[in-house]
Amino acid sequence: MIGKKMEELINTQINAEMYSAYLYLSMSSWCSQHTWNGFAHWLRLQAQEELTHAMKFYDYLNERGGIVTLPAIDAPKAEWRDVLELFKEVYAHEQKVTGMINAMMAEAIKQKDYAAEIMLQWFVSEQVEEEANASEIVVKLEKIGPSAGGLFQIDHQLEKR
Ligand code: FEO
Repeated sequence: MIGKKMEELINTQINAEMYSAYLYLSMSSWCSQHTWNGFAHWLRLQAQEELTHAMKFYDYLNERGGIVTLPAIDAPKAEWRDVLELFKEVYAHEQKVTGMINAMMAEAIKQKDYAAEIMLQWFVSEQVEEEANASEIVVKLEKIGPSAGGLFQIDHQLEKR
C-alpha cells in the first residue's frame, strides 16, 4: 500500500514527465521547421525518454496499489528565438524536474517509504545525466555564438545520438 501524499506526488510526476515529452516534441518540431535536423532528432529521442519516465512512475503506482489519476497535460510553447534560447529552456526544465524528484525523495525519507526511496534513486541518478546533457549543449552553443558553421557542426553531432 502507498501513502496518500506519495500517491499524489507520483501522479503529479507522471503528468510532469508527460509534459516534458510534449515540450520536447514541440521543440523538436520547431527545430525541424528551421532545418536543424540534428537538434530535432536529439529532442525527439528525449521526448521518448520522458515517456519511459512517465511509465516507470505509472507502473510503480499500480504495483503499489495506488490510483493513477491522469489529469490533462498543459500545452507547451511552440516558438523560440533561436536554438540557444531553446536549449537554455531544456536545461531550466530539467533543473525544475530535479527539484520535483528531490522533493519526492525527501517525502519518501520522511515517511520511511523504503520502496519509494529505492525507486526514486534511479531518477536521482537519471537527473544528474539529464542536466549534464542539456548543460553541455548550452555551453557549446554559448561558445560558438552566432557562428553558422559552429551551429551546423553541433547539429550534425546531435544527429548521431
Ligand atoms: Fe524525465 Fe528529463 O526528466
